[in-house]
Amino acid sequence: MSIPVLTIDGPSGAGKGTVSRLVAKKLGWHYLDSGSIYRSLAIALQKTSVDLANINDIVKVAQGMELAFECGDELVVKLNGENITKQLSLESTGSLASKIAVVPNVRQILLQKQRDFSRLPGLVADGRDMGTVVFPEAKNKVFLTASAVKRAERRYKQLMEKEINANLIEIKNEIDARDRRDMEREIAPLAMPHNALYIDSSAMSINDVVEEVLNLIR
Ligand code: DC
Repeated sequence: MSIPVLTIDGPSGAGKGTVSRLVAKKLGWHYLDSGSIYRSLAIALQKTSVDLANINDIVKVAQGMELAFECGDELVVKLNGENITKQLSLESTGSLASKIAVVPNVRQILLQKQRDFSRLPGLVADGRDMGTVVFPEAKNKVFLTASAVKRAERRYKQLMEKEINANLIEIKNEIDARDRRDMEREIAPLAMPHNALYIDSSAMSINDVVEEVLNLIR
């Protein structure tokens, strides 16, 4: 029996995480936050003294990563047994994740880890290349975006709620730099899958976006 997959791709801060989690909950499906896999590798690299110019060493760390995702009310992520959930949401983690995500061998190693999330009754997968590379056969695909200013404001609010210090202008600059890196890389760049539903959430509430995505499934 084929496993239904809904992919939600888009740039950083478009609301993919919140929307994907809510849609997965409504459908009773599993949820893959693929960015957290790249972020976990960034943390694993920060914990070692690997020279980031040395691709072979980065690849070895990626191969040795034991990741566990515990889905309760909040997603808890463990890297080699250590809870790294709080570090995952730091801007510095996202920025390093985006830098190592350009390495083709890294993407290749992380591919299977992502595909392993596809289990019955279904999967909601959020990221940059879910509909184009990781789950190209998915029946339902969404491309969720919002203006860079709106995304920066949302990210700032999220970090404040988590009591993480942040600066709005720095976040906007970081978002612009990350957009460029994610869209311009040669392998699996952020791009809209040709058969995806395009949603610009700049002026929409989270609930409106969730409803629009659920309508696609229905
Ligand atoms: O979605 P996020 O902000 O947690 O992702 C962090 C970085 O990881 C993102 O800037 C690029 C990389 N990434 C990727 O290359 N492919 C994905 N499917 C998900 C994330």
